[in-house]
Amino acid sequence: MSAKIEETSIKHLDRLYEIETECFETEAFTKQQIAYLLTDYNSVGLVAKVNGEIAGFIIGKVYANGKSATGHILTIDVSPKHRRRGIGLKLLHEIEKAFTDKGVKICCLEAREDNIAALNLYRKHGYKIVGRLKNYYGSANGVCLRKVLT
Ligand SMILES: CC(C)(COP(=O)(O)OP(=O)(O)OC[C@H]1O[C@@H](n2cnc3c(N)ncnc32)[C@H](O)[C@@H]1OP(=O)(O)O)[C@@H](O)C(=O)NCCC(=O)NCCS
Repeated sequence: MSAKIEETSIKHLDRLYEIETECFETEAFTKQQIAYLLTDYNSVGLVAKVNGEIAGFIIGKVYANGKSATGHILTIDVSPKHRRRGIGLKLLHEIEKAFTDKGVKICCLEAREDNIAALNLYRKHGYKIVGRLKNYYGSANGVCLRKVLT
């Protein structure tokens, strides 16, 4: 069954935190951090539902920048049992649409340089590595990726 994308809110906090802890052993956002992101005025949060269950989510933020705006994806998580079915790509696609509606021209994000799944996903969706971030994740390096939205 294909995933349905919906806006999320604080009412999904418990499930989003559950998925966050399934996705990240270390470096997981705390429940408080997710709550903050979900309630921030500039945030965009979406969930992917499969058979009514939340299978994954994405949260980003819009930064006004003069006449245009920049979108920053803060987290994208798909529950392990729902992976490799296109949900990550769908979440990215939908948040970019939401960003575009808010005037965003450029979307950026960071990832661990050893996160092959995420890097392949982003590359497949048109993101390019534009910088390296030494020790961005404690002792692990990060990369900074960027895409011009059309
Ligand atoms: C990264 C993540 C969001 C991908 O979600 P997903 O729903 O499985 O991704 P998709 O099914 O849309 O995959 C799209 C493409 O990404 C790449 N990809 C996804 N998972 C991959 C993996 N485990 N290994 C290699 N490439 C992978 C592939 O190119 C894939 O296309 P394909 O299936 O046709 O080969 C998911 O693995 C996840 O939640 N990981 C833990 C959290 C995380 O690391 N988030 C990113 C933080 S920067």
